[in-house]
Amino acid sequence: MSPKNNGGKNAQSEAGMERARPILHQKAREIQAYGKIAKLPIALDEKVCAEHVENLNQILADTMTLRDMYKKHHWQVAGHTFYQLHLLFDKHHGEQDELVDAIAERIQLLGGISLAMAADVAETTIIPRPPRGREEAPVQLSRLLEAHETILKEARTMARQATDAGDDGTNDLLVSDVIRTNELQVWFLAEHLVDVPLVRADETREVGKAAKA
Ligand SMILES: [Fe+2]
Repeated sequence: MSPKNNGGKNAQSEAGMERARPILHQKAREIQAYGKIAKLPIALDEKVCAEHVENLNQILADTMTLRDMYKKHHWQVAGHTFYQLHLLFDKHHGEQDELVDAIAERIQLLGGISLAMAADVAETTIIPRPPRGREEAPVQLSRLLEAHETILKEARTMARQATDAGDDGTNDLLVSDVIRTNELQVWFLAEHLVDVPLVRADETREVGKAAKA
């Protein structure tokens, strides 16, 4: 083998090594600015896509906030209902997390950009920020119920807007997934705030007077 050939082989193997080396610290301009639509061929006007991307990003930020509030309460719950609420809050957290993914992916397929990072979510959500400290279980439940109601209210309005604009997919996501899931979770939470005796029935309480007693 001539030295010339040898050099050629070395150069080849070095080139091979270069290709296997990860290219780190890369930077470039964004490929799509937030708020702009990269239209896909889904037979919907760009204006309709833009309107529902904006609506869905609001629902996304509120759903992410509710999801995270469930984890906070899952960790911090206290009292004799600790075990059942600890498990229930985690179950609802998982279901809200599935909604987050479905909403975010619908935003992307409408050609938009879904919010993702906590700081952006915090700037966008309309759900009040809970304190960092621990709260009593009835306060946690009330806070969650209020967040659910906020989401249900906006989801119903947005679902109607989607139907009117011919965006059936967004309507279906809001009605079949967001609204149905939130309504069901409200039921499971609200029943914990019905003041009934745990062991001995209270014969003295009359219907209609229970709240005042
Ligand atoms: Fe856990």
